[in-house]
Amino acid sequence: MRTIQWLFAVGVLLFVTGIGFVIAGAREARSATPPVQAPPAGKPVATIKQIMSGITQPNAAILYASVGTVAGPEGTRDISPQNDEEWTAVGNSAAALIESGNLLLMNGRAVDADAWVTMTNAFIAASATALKAADDKSTDGILLAGAKVYATCETCHERYQR
Ligand code: HEC
Repeated sequence: MRTIQWLFAVGVLLFVTGIGFVIAGAREARSATPPVQAPPAGKPVATIKQIMSGITQPNAAILYASVGTVAGPEGTRDISPQNDEEWTAVGNSAAALIESGNLLLMNGRAVDADAWVTMTNAFIAASATALKAADDKSTDGILLAGAKVYATCETCHERYQR
């Protein structure tokens, strides 16, 4: 009789523990992050020429025009971004220049694995100094960065632009 009671008690205990495990398991399953699926790969479409004309050139123009000296009817005057919005716009263009450089290295666009990569990285680095100068709201920084960026455009064109 005692043995049966004892067995019954063990049975109940095992049953309760079992439920506990099921609940814990369910909680675990809910809190676990869903399996990460690889994002669909974007489909590259732009040629180098289109990246240059569509992204690189217009954003370089914004960078160059943001700081400098312009001649007007009353002589020359210095121009520079005048408020947060204008500095943000210069920073946006610098970021777009960097990304246009990234595009030159992606999806098999790199013309070779040597000078093309070095020159593109130099262009990206120069554009990054422009982004930093925009973040720092440094007019002198933009002037310096603009000259650096311009030099990297020219270096690459001398070698690769047909
Ligand atoms: C790493 C190399 C590289 C860098 C850096 C580079 N370019 Fe180019 N660019 C090219 C090549 C290559 C072509 C020729 C593309 C073609 O004709 O297929 C070109 C062509 C162009 C063209 C002519 C597009 C057309 O319609 O024919 C413009 C404008 C241009 N680049 C602007 C710039 C400017 C501005 C910069 C710098 C801010 C720059 N590029 C930096 C490689 C580069």
